[in-house]
Amino acid sequence: MDTGDIDRRPAKVLLDVRGLHVAYGKAEVVRDVSFDVRAGEFVVILGRNGAGKSTILHAISALIPKRAGTVTFDGRDLTAATPRETVQAGIVQVLEGHRVFHTLSVEDNLLIGTYAKAPRGDPTKLERIYALFPELAQRRSQMASRLSGGQQQILAVAQGVIGDPRLLVLDEPSGGLAPIVIDRILEVAAALCAEGLAILLVEQLVEKALRHAHWGYLVETGRIAVSAPAERLRDGELVRRVYLGGHAA
Ligand SMILES: Nc1ncnc2c1ncn2[C@@H]1O[C@H](COP(=O)(O)OP(=O)(O)O)[C@@H](O)[C@H]1O
Ligand SMILES: [Mg+2]
Repeated sequence: MDTGDIDRRPAKVLLDVRGLHVAYGKAEVVRDVSFDVRAGEFVVILGRNGAGKSTILHAISALIPKRAGTVTFDGRDLTAATPRETVQAGIVQVLEGHRVFHTLSVEDNLLIGTYAKAPRGDPTKLERIYALFPELAQRRSQMASRLSGGQQQILAVAQGVIGDPRLLVLDEPSGGLAPIVIDRILEVAAALCAEGLAILLVEQLVEKALRHAHWGYLVETGRIAVSAPAERLRDGELVRRVYLGGHAA
């Protein structure tokens, strides 16, 4: 059967997660999750609050232990890697809730984002970041605590981008902020993706997330319930199924 162009994905698998199980004590919250992100793709993981999305991301970034399963990145086995090794391999995760260092300036927050690769930070990378995020360039010497919540979130994303990831992982960048902030972040993510950076996004604002994504996974109580081209998910039927009783838009 001809399923059309939208079903086609790049052949090269960048991130490959197989049979992932994660538990907090006795509570298994991620059950046999397998999915991948292909080279150059913008992939979104959708699912209701508490479905296990952040847990999946944290297991990939080695921030919590895996009970079972494997994580492979560009052919390299990262199943037993440390968080630092994961970052050095090119997976950079921006955590939920715009965490930046409040007592440091915008610029020092950015320089910290480069430490994983170069021991003393790399100021040459700053100009590229300021070009991508002019709102930060204007405030480079301001204390991060003086930024709005939206600006702090943009700073948190910029801190991830300056680390030169090959896969940028964003966990709910909307985080209760103004719609214009999430639009900015998703636009920058899409622009970086167009330059070849792969994106793995978890987001509650389904419509916005699907607007930029190529591929989507729906997680339902710790399992992948649907894997489909983002275009197919945009029609809403599959998304409604998973969010039944929740908010699909
Ligand atoms: N540190 C933790 N200890 C115990 N349970 C947790 C912890 N973090 C998350 N959970 C539980 O695991 C489930 C999945 O959480 P999470 O991955 O944060 O979901 P999502 O990101 O999809 O909202 C939820 O039931 C949540 O209450
Ligand atoms: Mg979460």
